[in-house]
Amino acid sequence: MTINLAVLASGRGSNLQAIVRATEEGKLDAKVVLVLSDKADAKALDFAREKGIAAVHVSPKDFAQKSDYEAELLRQIDQVDCQLICLAGYMRILSPYFIQNAKVPVMNIHPALLPAFPGLHSQKQALDYGVKIAGCTVHFVDEGMDSGAIILQKSVPVLDDDTEDTLSARILEQEHQAYWQAIQLFAENKLVVEGRTVKIKGE
Ligand code: GRF
Repeated sequence: MTINLAVLASGRGSNLQAIVRATEEGKLDAKVVLVLSDKADAKALDFAREKGIAAVHVSPKDFAQKSDYEAELLRQIDQVDCQLICLAGYMRILSPYFIQNAKVPVMNIHPALLPAFPGLHSQKQALDYGVKIAGCTVHFVDEGMDSGAIILQKSVPVLDDDTEDTLSARILEQEHQAYWQAIQLFAENKLVVEGRTVKIKGE
């Protein structure tokens, strides 16, 4: 069954693009029906509009409280028939209000092998720590920060001469595969969540 996705993005939108590309190539049985952004100038919004996808800027500044802002996001999402909310470079932490009131699961991609290096600048955190393996994680979003149940992870080597930029680029390449693959597993109803553990049916 084709599932509909609502995507929240704040910036460049390369993960959004990779998801849309996977749908166009027939690898991902899903359709992005709505892109929401907290930033008016997010490239993700431009890309969505070029593709004819509904794209809406919702400014947090227009709302007195975070929950009011998030209620508007949820209202927009409720207007479309979607089965999954995907965070793709959405740079705000969703409050428990959003998670408790979302009618469908929320997924996120993080550029580190969680639970290592949550939060911002994960690739720099990994370099500073001196790890030899870095990577990305697709996970369900819970009320914590980058703490939800892990669906897929992909690893990359850290090279001696890596900078934050070179390591980020190597990880990003893997992000662009991992995200659509995780969404496809969800679309195929293959993800079985048992507490912190996500099992993949048939694997
Ligand atoms: C990615 O590295 C993603 O893992 C992180 O933010 C970045 C967003 O990049 N959450 P893009 O906007 O998808 O290009």
